[in-house]
Amino acid sequence: MSENEGDEGIEVPEDSPVIKKLMELDGVGEATALRLYENDYTSYESLSIASAEELSAATGLSVAMCHKIINSAREKLNIQIITADDLEKMVQNRGKITTGSSALDDLLGGGVPVGEVTEFYGEGGSGKTQLAIQLAVNVMLPKEKGGLDGNPFIIDSEKTFNPKRFREVAAAAGLDPDEALKRTRVYVARATDDQMATVEKILMDPDNTIKAWNTKLVVVDSVIGFFRSSKQFQGREHLADRQQKLNRHLHDLTNLADVYNIAVVVTNQIMSRPDVFFGNPNTSAGGNIMMHGPNNRINLRRSKGGLRIAHLVDSSYLPEGEAVFEITPQGIRDPKK
Ligand code: GTP
Ligand code: MG
Repeated sequence: MSENEGDEGIEVPEDSPVIKKLMELDGVGEATALRLYENDYTSYESLSIASAEELSAATGLSVAMCHKIINSAREKLNIQIITADDLEKMVQNRGKITTGSSALDDLLGGGVPVGEVTEFYGEGGSGKTQLAIQLAVNVMLPKEKGGLDGNPFIIDSEKTFNPKRFREVAAAAGLDPDEALKRTRVYVARATDDQMATVEKILMDPDNTIKAWNTKLVVVDSVIGFFRSSKQFQGREHLADRQQKLNRHLHDLTNLADVYNIAVVVTNQIMSRPDVFFGNPNTSAGGNIMMHGPNNRINLRRSKGGLRIAHLVDSSYLPEGEAVFEITPQGIRDPKK
């Protein structure tokens, strides 16, 4: 490998498929491919959503050269300008995952959509993790049953993923529980950086991760936990740093959803320390960043008789509203009449 290998401590295998793929782009030779790789531009997708200025600043390549590379990446991905009515059809035809409750599906415009980040936030016991498990099961169902024939990837930052419960919900949905567990990928994150790095890694190497796994749903349960509890962010003086990292994480999750047509679901706690964090105590943790990050935000709360109320608080295209659902032994369902 080249002389400058090791400059940044990055080792690139001689016959790296990533480098080979980058070299298929217009104007990209081995040195340029390495430069892109070292700066985390490792896929056509990541290049296609970069701006020429941003790519130039990161890599030191000229802006003109970066335009050429980005255009070439877009061509490879067949990214085209389409008419608005085609766009409307595409949005309407977007895959959705059923929640198990038709009332909650209706509130969400048919289910949890791919291509977007959906946030469920609420107090402890409101049903966030149960809903996450249900969606992870349902994404594996065939399309005619409200699934996407795809697989889930769960980033568990609270060590609450419970295989026993997962089996119950999978069996009730008509799946073979052993098979369902085999199709599900779980990453137990131990810290903020760990959680962020998992998503970054996927974005760097989609071919060997989400594409190879046929991932159609990524769950982060919970998205903010570490950002709130970690010692590195304690105190007001670290708030800006924390918000910046959270912003980057949400940006990565948005890209994951948007570029790869995946449903991204994040859960979030209700803030309990308004002295330390932005916002009012009834909103989800994460302040302004969370207000603008996810495409759809749903508040969950407990109601009488074990029922749960979902309140669609914010969506770019759906009206505000509420739905009532129940957490049954079989999973999320409409309340029994
Ligand atoms: P935190 O993670 O603590 O913030 O709460 P959460 O919102 O994730 O709550 P979770 O989804 O864990 O929901 C908890 C509620 O779901 C419990 O209060 C139970 O009512 C119900 N639940 C949890 N596990 C089971 C189970 O195995 N069977 C049944 N029938 N209900 C369950
Ligand atoms: Mg939970």
